[in-house]
Amino acid sequence: MKTLPALLAIATIAVSGPKVIAASLPPPGAASCSGCHATGTASTSSVPRLHGRDAGEITTAMNGFRDGSLPATVMNRIAKGFSDDEVRAIAAWLAAQK
Ligand code: HEC
Repeated sequence: MKTLPALLAIATIAVSGPKVIAASLPPPGAASCSGCHATGTASTSSVPRLHGRDAGEITTAMNGFRDGSLPATVMNRIAKGFSDDEVRAIAAWLAAQK
């Protein structure tokens, strides 16, 4: 039964592999932010970069856009489309990006 440990090793890789990839996938909605917000530091876009920003800052801004306390041209409408849980997940993911 020399093949059993090898099979177990392969099975372990097969099971843990996709989870590692999934952990780095953006949560629903997060990928849409980069349609306007710069992702690289070399960008000349006037829309502020969100990658690597503090998650609390992003969440606070999203709440402000949603309740109208922060002036906005488009973010008020975008922020209204997300629940608290979704905003938290998006903010955490954006903060973890380099
Ligand atoms: C259609 C373009 C567009 C998209 C898509 C977009 N944003 Fe914005 N965002 C803006 C603009 C423009 C501003 C400046 C405020 C305004 O005019 O609405 C802004 C401002 C912000 C700010 C405040 C940044 C600061 O430093 O003041 C945050 C936080 C933010 N957006 C988060 C997000 C998140 C999270 C998403 C994805 C769910 C997103 N935005 C998607 C255009 C966009």
